[in-house]
Amino acid sequence: MNKYALLVSAALGTAMLAGCAGASQESAGPGGNPFATASFQSIIKHDFADKGQAKVSRLKQTQSQYECSKYAYLGEAVPADVAKEIESKALSGVVYPADGKYLGNWKEGLKVAEDGKGMQWSDKPGTPNGGNCMACHRMIANDPSQGTIGPALYHYGKLRGDSEAVLKYTWARIYNSESFNSCSFMPPFGAHKILTEQQMKDVMALLMDPNSPVNR
Ligand code: HEC
Repeated sequence: MNKYALLVSAALGTAMLAGCAGASQESAGPGGNPFATASFQSIIKHDFADKGQAKVSRLKQTQSQYECSKYAYLGEAVPADVAKEIESKALSGVVYPADGKYLGNWKEGLKVAEDGKGMQWSDKPGTPNGGNCMACHRMIANDPSQGTIGPALYHYGKLRGDSEAVLKYTWARIYNSESFNSCSFMPPFGAHKILTEQQMKDVMALLMDPNSPVNR
């Protein structure tokens, strides 16, 4: 199981626990957020422990995770002004390539897209992480994983071209997908330093280069 799948299953487990907490009328934390109930906090304390580089502090929610979880729990859509605030904050934090060049080497990008390793307790800190793109996206013709959490990216560059606007949009998507969708399921690869600038360039080339398997 990859790290995102683990996170998703942890989140699902949390939602189920939260459901139970609600049923027993335990008071939820600020704003009705089930993640802040006392019993949930004690479960976290009891069942999770720091191991290697995977620290319990990772469970601390970002603002978007907090808001998106809260409204999902309440069964309501995130209010437009809250979503807009998250999105504009994310977009203004995007760091574009220092040398103005968006495209690296698609062959390296393919390795990044296939690789789901990194940031786990058993990984050596400081070693490069994978992007795990293919776990969520269908990217190449005979893609063995056929991910469906995200939209298919097969023929991405072929269909959209490589205008400055497309390059900028795609970079910002990869850097922090919350720039366009406050409750995006896609990991913020740049904002959370999951991928390096060079790795993002390589993945960009995978999406854009006419010779890459994405566009063949
Ligand atoms: C955990 C699942 C997940 C992973 C891993 C993931 N994505 Fe995504 N991605 C999504 C989802 C879901 C969307 C749809 C939009 C949204 O929810 O924000 C998306 C949207 C996109 C888009 C915009 C597509 C469009 O039609 O405009 C691009 C480009 C993209 N992803 C590229 C990547 C790349 C490159 C990687 C790997 C470095 C990656 N994604 C990894 C889930 C994922």
